[in-house]
Amino acid sequence: MTKRKTAAVILAAGLGTRMKSDLPKVMHRVAGRPMIRHLIASLAEHDLERTVVVVGEGMDAVADAVAPHPTAIQKDRLGTAHAVLAARDAMAGFDGDVLILYGDTPLIGPETLGRMLAARRATPHPALVVLGFRPRDPGHYGRLLMGEGGSLEAIVEAKEASPAQLAIDLCNSGVMCIDGARLFGLLDRVGNANAKKEYYLTDIVALARADGLPCAMVEGEETELLGVNSRAELAAAEAIVQARLRAAALANGATLIAPETVFFSHDTRLGRDVLVEPFVFFGPGVTVGDEVEIRAFSHLEGASVASGARIGPYARLRPGADIGSEAHIGNFVEVKKSTIEERAKVNHLTYIGDARVGAGANVGAGTITCNYDGFFKSLTDIGKGAFIGSNTALVAPVKVGDGAIVGAGSVIARDVAPDALAVTRAQHTEVAGWAKRFRERKAAEKATAKNQKGKN
Ligand code: UD1
Ligand code: MG
Repeated sequence: MTKRKTAAVILAAGLGTRMKSDLPKVMHRVAGRPMIRHLIASLAEHDLERTVVVVGEGMDAVADAVAPHPTAIQKDRLGTAHAVLAARDAMAGFDGDVLILYGDTPLIGPETLGRMLAARRATPHPALVVLGFRPRDPGHYGRLLMGEGGSLEAIVEAKEASPAQLAIDLCNSGVMCIDGARLFGLLDRVGNANAKKEYYLTDIVALARADGLPCAMVEGEETELLGVNSRAELAAAEAIVQARLRAAALANGATLIAPETVFFSHDTRLGRDVLVEPFVFFGPGVTVGDEVEIRAFSHLEGASVASGARIGPYARLRPGADIGSEAHIGNFVEVKKSTIEERAKVNHLTYIGDARVGAGANVGAGTITCNYDGFFKSLTDIGKGAFIGSNTALVAPVKVGDGAIVGAGSVIARDVAPDALAVTRAQHTEVAGWAKRFRERKAAEKATAKNQKGKN
């Protein structure tokens, strides 16, 4: 058989009422990425001729999230079959195999999609293949009615099912692979005489069977096929993906002391021999080099950390934080859009934003780069080997030259020359014995006041 062409239609027009959200359901994030993008990523592993996403009117956020893939608009939301029909124009001329995915079933992996395609292309060349699974709680899922010899006869929605059918544990995941030459012909015949007055995509199984076409079922795992209709199911999906990401991190040579407390983004990249202590959160876009230690309670997003660096405990790396090799970022330090070069140390209670900290520089406790004047952001440049004393405010734009020293407590608003000392604090004045005299005078005053009170 010559290689057949493949296309995908993802249904994402549903309102997701049970999410109780202003955001389209498929834009809710799992592991830092909108659900719909998880599907696009799994599909990208297969060589698809086109992918069309069916959205509702005004769902521009979804259209942006799936670009450059085209969207088709389903005006009235009359059910899943009606939704696929909205993609008819976008699918014109396509007669290969069509994968239909539900945007709210985001965890399906490329391997399972491959099994669907393989089943469709194997004898007896079923007109359609449905991905089934056995969820722990079959609840509202459609039930698969199987015939002799493992052929699929029909799907019955939970709302229409008899008690005997509800007892079936084999459920419809929603994922289908259909002969593109027959898809729209079958859809045109779907009616809406059912409990929800909707056009059910699931009805095309019985229609195909009535035409004598073989239909097949491929079974998958609940961990890939959970449908997300509520916040509770969103949290369940998150837990599944986190378990996968933790297992992958461990398999790739990272040590996680308490894996269940570490949260990854779909794209977190960790090098070898990375140590991640408990309660660390990775937002999107983090890359970590080899032999990095990320200590407890740190939060990282959009940051890169080079080999041998040490982050935390309690560190916050925000987007654009670029931490050089063997640099140290310590407790209660926030770094945003800044380069911390190799071996530099920013160890305590510091904000570094829009800055460069040169190689080997030491930034003392409580240092703040004042990068924002209420209107514009400005840059701070700290040279190689410079030493910034504790509790320094660096008022950007400002440069501290290589090897310069800034005295503790300074407010630096002018550039400091290389190897110079800059101190801006007030002169130290001292009055010998003043404190002792002060205490004696005050103690005497208090004693007199007490005596007066006693007499009255
Ligand atoms: C659907 C299936 C059910 C299956 C379950 C798996 C049907 C009739 N039922 O039920 O058999 O067990 O998924 O999770 O297909 N959508 C549209 N336009 C519409 C209606 C829905 O685009 O008019 C989209 C939704 O955005 C969603 C998907 O289709 O991504 C499924 O719709 P949903 O309402 O969640 O169907 P379920 O009741 O979960
Ligand atoms: Mg659903």
